[in-house]
Amino acid sequence: MSFEIVPVAGALGAEVSGVSLPQIGVEESAALRTALDRYHVLRFRGQDLDRFQLSALAQNFGPHFLHPIVSNGFPDCPEVLELRRDVDDAVLFGGECWHADVTWMKPAGYVSILHALEVPPFGGDTCFASTIAAFEALSPSFRDMLRRLNAVHSYYWYERREEPPWVVEHPVVRKHPSGGQEGLYVNRMFTSRLSGMTVAESAPLLTQLFSHMERYEFTCRFRWQEGDVLMWDNRFCLHYPLNDFSGQRRRMIRTSTMESNR
Ligand code: SIN
Repeated sequence: MSFEIVPVAGALGAEVSGVSLPQIGVEESAALRTALDRYHVLRFRGQDLDRFQLSALAQNFGPHFLHPIVSNGFPDCPEVLELRRDVDDAVLFGGECWHADVTWMKPAGYVSILHALEVPPFGGDTCFASTIAAFEALSPSFRDMLRRLNAVHSYYWYERREEPPWVVEHPVVRKHPSGGQEGLYVNRMFTSRLSGMTVAESAPLLTQLFSHMERYEFTCRFRWQEGDVLMWDNRFCLHYPLNDFSGQRRRMIRTSTMESNR
């Protein structure tokens, strides 16, 4: 299989053609991991995967993540979630704010793979933001200060503004294990505060970082077609699906892997 990779924006994102995802082997998955290291989010058009094929594909990118809380996993394939917004629904899964998947666990989430089965005639795009581009745009002294901080992440933070007993801590700045680039590792959905500080003490700095990370020049945006697959590296990008298609239906299947074997 020889495939072509074309960047879609300056900060992150690429379109990959010439790949049939259910058929990739060891060599192709290694090449896709390298492409993910460089572009952080990849789009593949015209794919046709059922939930079992999506699950098998994900195994090339680390151990499956089994969601301990949400109940939209398939009973016969629980590592694959159905993300469905029907015409009467108001809420879009993940559509509350910018986030990365599974930062509230340790080891944390690595790759997520999302496959479009049914897309609305307008809206429902997914946006991505490079945490590396955001970090690199900060001044050197500010970057040095951030390198010394850790932050607390918890699943219920955005929804309930409360920390359950099982919070985890991660460095605010993560180094890429392959390239050595550094990226900010905090997000609005799951990062409650800086370690050793209160929520109130942390809020000014965290809010500033969140707004900075979401600047347009660090982002790219994908308009969906049926059969599209998006694959992204949660360690070095944020994402945000747009809930702007009221009265329309959108149906996706998604699976994620953990970073523990990398
Ligand atoms: C998510 O993982 O937050 C969902 C992304 C999407 O539906 O576009």
